[in-house]
Amino acid sequence: MKTSNMFSLCRSHLQSAAFLLLCTALAAPAVFAQDFWEPGKHAVEVLNSCTTPLPNNWPVNVTYPRGESGPFPLIAMFNGMECQASWYTDIINHVASWGYVIVQYTTDFGFPLNPFGGGEREEVQYLAPLLRWLEKEPKLAGKIDFANKAVMGHSRGGKLAALHYANRTNNFKTAVLIDPVDCSSFAMGPSHPSAIAALAGKPANCGILPLPPYGHGNLPAAIIGAGIVWMCNPGGSNAEAFNKAVSVQSLYVTVKGAGHMTFTKPPEESSFWSIINRSCWGGTIASEVAISEARTMAVAWLESKFRPSQETTNRLARYKQHLSDLTGEGVLTFNWPEGGALPGSSLPEAPAGAAAGRREEL
Ligand SMILES: *[C@@H]1O[C@H](CO)[C@@H](O)[C@H](O)[C@H]1NC(C)=O
Ligand SMILES: *[C@@H]1O[C@H](CO)[C@@H](O)[C@H](O)[C@H]1NC(C)=O
Ligand SMILES: *[C@@H]1O[C@H](CO)[C@@H](O)[C@H](O)[C@H]1NC(C)=O
Repeated sequence: MKTSNMFSLCRSHLQSAAFLLLCTALAAPAVFAQDFWEPGKHAVEVLNSCTTPLPNNWPVNVTYPRGESGPFPLIAMFNGMECQASWYTDIINHVASWGYVIVQYTTDFGFPLNPFGGGEREEVQYLAPLLRWLEKEPKLAGKIDFANKAVMGHSRGGKLAALHYANRTNNFKTAVLIDPVDCSSFAMGPSHPSAIAALAGKPANCGILPLPPYGHGNLPAAIIGAGIVWMCNPGGSNAEAFNKAVSVQSLYVTVKGAGHMTFTKPPEESSFWSIINRSCWGGTIASEVAISEARTMAVAWLESKFRPSQETTNRLARYKQHLSDLTGEGVLTFNWPEGGALPGSSLPEAPAGAAAGRREEL
């Protein structure tokens, strides 16, 4: 993406008076989905808007199943810091094809790092106006089931997702966290609440690093993390630390060869993305692998929460087998939720070495 686009995603559209763009994305998949890693039965389309209730009209993108169908559960998806909504397209389209409406927004460049800004303490307040806006948007009428909502997020977006999930007034049913990152040395103090503390039920601001151990809270989540831990996903604030704060009934996958940015892919050559990728220490596997595991986990988890059924149970059993196979191949490790929290748990546990050999502590 060209640098100019980064700074003025919306302004250029405003100038061309195209306030609301409705674009068709994927063609309908031919076969109904059998497994969570296959596309769902819905073709999807995207509503792009530049007149939004967010600061400076931050662009909002809503991806949803096309046609008369619905209503569908709502997933609020939060991008990583400085990351564009489009970098998650392969994840978003897949999840939406399974019958979910996904809303994303892209902040102004540099937003969360502004030392005079309100940080996540302020940003969590942007959710309520965004939900009201979604309720009123005519193009989405009848599409969204507002009683069934979940959050999803990558990196700092995982932190925002977790803060919203832990906030019970929001009534989010669950969370999907993709290499989430909580406190870091440049985001400390009262404007930066700790998501790990919030998940553990012990709200606190980002204070000293590494964070103190808060223990497990009672909120289950699905977490997928990068096996390569570097400055963008530092130990103590990363997926592994989130996994210690969610309930033991959570799903936790680590993709061994993934770096922090391996879960993202810009739609076209992007020097901006490349700089972030390099500073985060790229990863040793193709992003397609990490992205496929992230979106498969997201669908598996969301279906288990929103559409439990015998078919979902069968698919979960096959998903667990898939994770076991990839563990055997050395691609990933996983912890299946304890206590039969997920249907499909009757399959044998992953080999003991898998859990034990997770990531070394930093
Ligand atoms: C999101 O909306 C903005 C503003 O209309 C647009 O520039 C951008 O391409 C959209 N992104 C996606 C992934 O559709
Ligand atoms: C919880 O959510 C409500 C509504 O969005 C918001 O006003 C409140 O500040 C949030 N509380 C925290 C601790 O994030
Ligand atoms: C991402 O960064 C790593 C270096 O950290 C590099 O090896 C890899 O090729 C980069 N990926 C892409 C797609 O540019």
